[in-house]
Order: sequence, then structure tokens, then C-alpha cells
Amino acid sequence: VAIDGPAGSGKSTTSRLLAHKLGISYLDTGAMYRAVALHFVQNELLTSDENLSSVIDSISIDIKNNSVYLNDVDVSSKIRTQGVSNLVSEVSCLPLVRSKLVEIQRSISRNQSIVIDGRDIGTVVFPNADFKFFVTASIEVRAIRRYEEMKLSDDNIDINQIMKDIRERDRIDSSRSHSPLIKANDAILIDTTDLDIDQQVNRILEIINKQN
Ligand code: CDP
Repeated sequence: VAIDGPAGSGKSTTSRLLAHKLGISYLDTGAMYRAVALHFVQNELLTSDENLSSVIDSISIDIKNNSVYLNDVDVSSKIRTQGVSNLVSEVSCLPLVRSKLVEIQRSISRNQSIVIDGRDIGTVVFPNADFKFFVTASIEVRAIRRYEEMKLSDDNIDINQIMKDIRERDRIDSSRSHSPLIKANDAILIDTTDLDIDQQVNRILEIINKQN
């Protein structure tokens, strides 16, 4: 099951719950791109680095029990910081990063049923997925959701700044030349602006059950 969509559309929460209800695995590909971005932040690397190829070769990314590991260290919390969010879309434009992560995503998904979410799953990673959804919502609602989520760990957040950051990430993700964020022709559009998480999951589940 391929689930794509922009930041704050609720696709990760939806995908996790959906996988649970279907009794199959879940893979959050955004977490993998975030882990690579964290490596750039931690080592003060630039995406224009001359030795990009050896930098990317030296990184190992693993997903085990819904945790993401960067060079064997669990970085599941560290990848959610603002610093990583600000750099992740730039890092995700690099073809070397994409080909490395897509290969890992395909190998994890081999021989098992899985819900996998990201930006390019239905278009590039699994163009032959059995089910494809494109989950979206208005920019205002997406910013409010991200605000509510971040407020739990940070008192100093500003909703206008969040909206600006999301807009910028959407712009980079949608306009990059390599695997841009775009709805696959055969993906079903789910607009979650007026839906809560349960309604969102149920809408997708109904469609899957109807076609199965
Ligand atoms: O959770 P949120 O919507 O903030 O984003 P995410 O799913 O964690 O993904 C973070 C970033 O990784 C995105 O903004 C994209 O730049 C990149 N990404 C990608 O390029 N391709 C994917 N399949 C997944 C994420």
C-alpha cells in the first residue's frame, strides 16, 4: 500500500494505524531521509560537498522495530528537530541519496505486505503497488497539526513560522527534478482537511476492503 502526500497531511499516523489494522508492516521513508539529513547536520556537511559520493557511501541507515538507525545509533527522536526539518528537503534532492534509500526501501519490502509512506512511493519506488493513495489537506490545517505536535515538546514555536517552513518544504519537494512530490495518475486522492485520524484511516480501509 503506497501512501504519498505533503508535510502534515497526516500520512505517517494514518499509515501506521492502517498497517496495524491490516496486520502488516509499516515503513516511514521520510524517517530515512531525515536520518541522512541528521548526518549532514551533525557533521556540518554541505549538499555541495566535493566528496558527496564517499559521504553517502559511509552512511548506514537501518529500520528495526519502527526505529531508525544512523550508523547503528537509534536516532528516532533526533530526526524530528527543526534543524533536520530545515535541511531534509535539500538533502532529499540529491540523486545519490535517493538511489541509496530507494534500494533499501525495495529490499525491506521484498516478499512482504507493507504500508509505505513518502513522496515518491506510488510514482517511483513501487509504481505497481496494489493500492495507491495521495493524502493531502489545506496548508492551514497542516500547519495547525504540526503546531499541536511540536507544542508538546517546545514552548517557543510560532505557527506562522511553521506554515512558512511547510510551504518551503512543499515547494522544494514538488519542484525537484528527481522524483518530485506528485500524485500518481492511478492514486486515489484523500483530502483530510475535514477528517480526523480515525475517519482518515477508515476511509482508506473501506477502499482497500472493497477492492480486495
Ligand atoms: O512527516 P513530514 O510530513 O514532516 O515529512 P517526512 O515524511 O518525515 O519527510 C521529510 C522529508 O523527506 C520530505 O519533506 C521530503 O523532502 C523527503 N522525502 C522524500 O523526498 N521522499 C520520500 N519518499 C520521503 C520523504
